[in-house]
Amino acid sequence: MASGSGSNAAKFISYFRNHPSISVVLVVSNNASAFVLQRAANAGVPQAVLPRKAWEEKREVLALFDSHQVNAIVLAGYMRLLPPWMTDRYSGRIFNIHPALLPDFGGKGMYGMHVHRAVIESGARRSGITVHLVNERYDEGPVLFQKQVDVLPGDTPETLSERIRQLEHEHYPRVVEEYLGALPLI
Ligand code: GRF
Repeated sequence: MASGSGSNAAKFISYFRNHPSISVVLVVSNNASAFVLQRAANAGVPQAVLPRKAWEEKREVLALFDSHQVNAIVLAGYMRLLPPWMTDRYSGRIFNIHPALLPDFGGKGMYGMHVHRAVIESGARRSGITVHLVNERYDEGPVLFQKQVDVLPGDTPETLSERIRQLEHEHYPRVVEEYLGALPLI
């Protein structure tokens, strides 16, 4: 699930393309003009747009996920909170990545460049990525994986975000693969 560019979603699609037991079955966005939908279309992956209103139809949303046999959800720049009936239904099976070392620089309003700007302004020497399980609050589920990067003298939010994005691409699919491998199917 993604709301924007979807570079991480694209990495998942290519990483799992010939995987023996995991596949990306559906790309979901809340935003009909998100570039991630273009990426999914180019890769031949089914896609769905679920704007805010669609989430009022709980049964339809669940039917959509069931029809694609979704048994885990990866958030990759998805900008909305999932309703509790989703986090309950897929409890322990929803992943998110945050472009900093949680619990620092997380929570409401901490997304995209806001995170990197706050890190640099704080004078922190390190930032990084956090892969965590999702519950009904922002950035609060159990942490599965973190990797640090140095904040370099002269770093701008843009240069830091570029290095962190690379790190996300390198680790996020692999961490999810490892974790999913240890879970029973539902
Ligand atoms: C990533 O930086 C991720 O940490 C955050 O949203 C961003 C999504 O980027 N949750 P992209 O759309 O995958 O390029």
